[in-house]
Amino acid sequence: MAYCQTAVSSDDSPLLSDLHRQIDGCTRCALSTGVTHYVPGMGTEKTDIMIIGEGPGKNEDLKGLPFVGASGKFLDVLLDSIGLSRDRVYITNVVKCRPPENRDPKEEEILACNAWLEAQILLINPKIIVTLGRFSMAKFLPGVTISKVHGQPKRRASDGRIIFPCYHPAVALYNGSMRAVLLEDFTRLATVLSQISS
Ligand code: URA
Repeated sequence: MAYCQTAVSSDDSPLLSDLHRQIDGCTRCALSTGVTHYVPGMGTEKTDIMIIGEGPGKNEDLKGLPFVGASGKFLDVLLDSIGLSRDRVYITNVVKCRPPENRDPKEEEILACNAWLEAQILLINPKIIVTLGRFSMAKFLPGVTISKVHGQPKRRASDGRIIFPCYHPAVALYNGSMRAVLLEDFTRLATVLSQISS
């Protein structure tokens, strides 16, 4: 049985905290049976930027917070490279529970978790959604190949939000040359952000 602990947002928004608490009790798919902590998300509701990864790993499962392991450290470097920090964005994943042995999330698990992600998007109402890796990219840009579209903003006709696809920061941990690619894509992200806030 999962042990539930709410990861509150940094600005302690009651609505966001309440949504995190609801996610904490979710039993919509089998992933919930194996977790130490649910990982709903972290950051502020008052942001234009939402960052969506794949799913919690071991460290995230232990702490109940997204991107607190090695790939999270690199995500912090990427944010810092454009003058951002975790408390100025909102970070979550397509699935809120750790897939066993860090396997890829299954389609049915992503579908089961999708209502939570949609609720988070509605609440945060971001102008830009940065997808990290192919699983979150596939939700917004189905059928595209990450090597062809990374670092290129696409405006969604349905709601006007900008989708900004990036490689998952974990790729840079086993392929050093990807560090520069991600840093360059984040520089492009900074340009897009300055355009939407002007
Ligand atoms: N990888 C992810 O996609 N999300 C996390 O929270 C941690 C690692």
